[in-house]
Amino acid sequence: MKEIFERRSIRKYSKLSISDSDIENLLRAAMSAPSAGNQQPWEFILIKDKNIMSDITKIHPYSQMLKEAQLAIVVCADLDKEKHSGYWVQDCSAATENILIEAQHLGLGSVWLGVYPREDRVTGLKEILNLPERVIPLSIISLGYPAEKKGPSNRFDKLRIHINEW
Ligand SMILES: Cc1cc2nc3c(=O)[nH]c(=O)nc-3n(C[C@H](O)[C@H](O)[C@H](O)COP(=O)(O)O)c2cc1C
Repeated sequence: MKEIFERRSIRKYSKLSISDSDIENLLRAAMSAPSAGNQQPWEFILIKDKNIMSDITKIHPYSQMLKEAQLAIVVCADLDKEKHSGYWVQDCSAATENILIEAQHLGLGSVWLGVYPREDRVTGLKEILNLPERVIPLSIISLGYPAEKKGPSNRFDKLRIHINEW
């Protein structure tokens, strides 16, 4: 729970690289997410190449931190793996959030970059990553050891809670 309460978006990173075992843990966390009917429609693209990171910053207006990132994980859905139509967005969002929480656990900084449903970002990313037609990128997670500190956000708001009816 500590990881959930302390996680913040980190957009500045040190030059320390992320170990393969940590990368595997991030992906194990992702694939532990719940999905509709356990359909697990996700696929993950690991990006370590600086040139590809830089190409992404040209098609995604809020992704400049990728220039400093040690790793990016693109969370995609393979629509051929869907058994319950339309739920892939929720499945892949759950996988994305699990990566953020595991990153916090490992002492890594991360930020979720939204891709879907912005058509231009989806098309641009499909082209850069050579994705098949049936594969749709939902998010990019930018990762690295933090070079900035942020305190926990306290967004708890009792007014957002409704008991039994609105
Ligand atoms: C669906 C989604 C899309 C987001 N897209 C971006 C993005 O493109 N660029 C970015 O810097 N942050 C992005 N964020 C991070 C949010 O800005 C951040 O989570 C929010 O401001 C709350 O701050 P916190 O994560 O530090 O608690 C995105 C977050 C979500 C959930």
